[in-house]
Amino acid sequence: MSIPVPHSPLPLGGRHIVLGLSGGIACYKSAELVRELQRAGASVQVVMTEAACRFITPVTMQALSGQSVVTDQWDAREPNNMAHINLSRGADAILVAPASADFIAKLCQGRADEVLSLLCLARPVGACPLLLAPAMNREMWEHPATRRNIAQAVADGATVFGPGSGDQACGEVGDGRMLEATEIRDELIAFFQPKLLAGRRVLITAGPTFEAIDPVRGITNLSSGKMGFAIARAAQEAGAEVTLVAGPVHLATPRHVQRIDVQSAQQMHDAVLPLAAAHDVFVATAAVADWRPASAAGEKIKKDGSGAAPALRFSENPDILAAVARLPDRPYCVGFAAESHDLARHAREKRLRKNVPLLVGNLGPATFGRDDNSLLLVDADGERGLPPADKLSLARELVREIAARLRAPLVSA
Ligand code: CTP
Repeated sequence: MSIPVPHSPLPLGGRHIVLGLSGGIACYKSAELVRELQRAGASVQVVMTEAACRFITPVTMQALSGQSVVTDQWDAREPNNMAHINLSRGADAILVAPASADFIAKLCQGRADEVLSLLCLARPVGACPLLLAPAMNREMWEHPATRRNIAQAVADGATVFGPGSGDQACGEVGDGRMLEATEIRDELIAFFQPKLLAGRRVLITAGPTFEAIDPVRGITNLSSGKMGFAIARAAQEAGAEVTLVAGPVHLATPRHVQRIDVQSAQQMHDAVLPLAAAHDVFVATAAVADWRPASAAGEKIKKDGSGAAPALRFSENPDILAAVARLPDRPYCVGFAAESHDLARHAREKRLRKNVPLLVGNLGPATFGRDDNSLLLVDADGERGLPPADKLSLARELVREIAARLRAPLVSA
């Protein structure tokens, strides 16, 4: 199915989503979900089963969505009296959240005895994807009947978001709870991204490194890790299997990304090198410390009363990007350069010095910790600037650039 991406600065801008609610306590999260989808730019038409109306009122959902809620297949407001046909024809997706065990079972049997299952059955399968966010007790989720039904729903073309794991309304703990509203929003945003890196494995370094002086002190830098984490998210959204090796940062792991936390440059090197050859792409965004204290003190260094500062000696850290670029079966390597001046010249020189096909330059001090940036892409063919934007938009653009280069015959560095 080809899904055109509308031009909008918002990730769901121009999208029209039919949000279906079946019966479950997770309906309370659907109210927030409407808000999240709207904030992301979508318009939302709510459809509720009778059971859903027991958990949250259509009044609430109408007030939040700004559109009258459809609850009845016999609703005569539609001029042709065919809400079940009309609703899906203009929709970019039907998202059922919560999708109860019973509702999923009905979908699998092709039953259509109320408006939401009728709508799902009547949707044009090739044009209107069906997305399910299951919500149920853990025993119901584990039950062989539910396992069968989920497998059947997927075989019939549905996409399943979650479920999450944790505390359940019934007091039990386990798999089956509906994802949070923000998680469902992010799954939906990812769903609509073109799968340019499907089947690819992408390895990314991000953040600063921390080089210990003693057990309580160390040397680090101002890198926030935001650009690397945004690239990890964008690559995953594009269908890649992503491994993110992160220095010490306080950022949430993007969904479905495998994260390995490290502290020092040497640890980052030791985590990356064994993995690199098994990946198709390596993106080195980390601000790796060039030097580390030659020997970290085992105990906290104390003042000796003389007023003299301790003398620190440094050793050079391994260059992770250069080491990966030297591997005989190296992945497609993308380096980053954080410069304070002469960006284009430094980026060109660094690309050749590191022996990588693509080098991404940015002005370091101006971008550290910020949510936006601008990038300069330098490869063997020349340079291309990506104008200022938020880091996630830039990351998606960079993913498109990388995917295009993977498809093209490899030009040597
Ligand atoms: N890099 C790395 N390992 C290091 C140092 C840098 O993998 N020990 C990677 C960075 O992740 C980045 C690129 O190399 O992708 C450029 O890093 P940078 O520190 O800007 O360049 P240097 O080679 O250290 O050059 P200089 O400090 O002179 O600018």
